Amino acid sequence: MPIPQEHQYLFYVLLLAMYLTTILGNLIIIILILLDSHLHTPMYLLLGNLSFSDLCFSSVTMPKLLQNMQSQNPIITYADCLAQMYFLMFFGDMESFLLVAMAYDRYVAICFPLHYTSIMSPKLCACLLLPMWLLATFNAMMHTLLMARLSFCEKNLILNFFCDVLALLKLACSDTYINELMILIMSNLIGIIPFALIVMSYVRIIFSILKVHSTQGIQKLFSTCGSHLSVVFLFYGTIIGLFLCPSTNNSIVKETVMAVMYTVVTPMLNPFIYSLRNRDIKGALIRVIFSNKISLSW
Ligand SMILES: *[C@@H]1O[C@H](CO)[C@@H](O)[C@H](O)[C@H]1NC(C)=O
Repeated sequence: MPIPQEHQYLFYVLLLAMYLTTILGNLIIIILILLDSHLHTPMYLLLGNLSFSDLCFSSVTMPKLLQNMQSQNPIITYADCLAQMYFLMFFGDMESFLLVAMAYDRYVAICFPLHYTSIMSPKLCACLLLPMWLLATFNAMMHTLLMARLSFCEKNLILNFFCDVLALLKLACSDTYINELMILIMSNLIGIIPFALIVMSYVRIIFSILKVHSTQGIQKLFSTCGSHLSVVFLFYGTIIGLFLCPSTNNSIVKETVMAVMYTVVTPMLNPFIYSLRNRDIKGALIRVIFSNKISLSW
């Protein structure tokens, strides 16, 4: 850990609190969406899946990290590391695909409001999710298998934060050319194409809003897409910010900031962004909490 010894404890408590908040916030969203039939619309089914990805994404890394922070000699076995890498990639990819699907959902809601229910059926939603699962599985599996054929000189690995692909590659003894090539190709495909699709749907949303009613247009944009836009900014803002910030001397600090942002901060904030200004979620919360009492008093 690139953290002074005397701050370790504070950092530990902070991470633990953030992790527990992540679990709680996302679980509440998932339970509300499963229980409340008003929320069985494509937008909320996708949000439920996003919350599930967030939950898993931080659960892959945080428990092990917290455990390592307490122990005297933090090591992680090679098998654990590969498993961690697989799930990190899988849920990371799922998150980026889900943001695209949610952008498409907003695009249909604004540009074709009359056909929204017929276009965005729960069936289409499932049809969108299946290829995402397959692609994310394929990508994670491919990188994991490529990694498994490398040889490592150390039997147990000691890592800064968690086993991401790049950190593992640095520790390999054999030739990593193919691995690096595939990482370059796939991270461009899986990173840039979803981002381009999201930008494209927002460009069309903004054009269609400005065409019809420019005065209330911006207000409508924020009331229907505000939450999704914030999550997109948070997700891609971190990536872009880290690319733009100069990486000269302090790469360990940079990697740590990136790791904390990705595995804790973003998954923790997503449920809050979606529920704070959202009437549907608040309504569902009230219905779910009070439905027991109402059915008793009946
Ligand atoms: C994820 O999406 C599928 C398909 O639309 C849906 O059936 C499922 O309930 C969603 N999961 C959550 C946790 O919302």
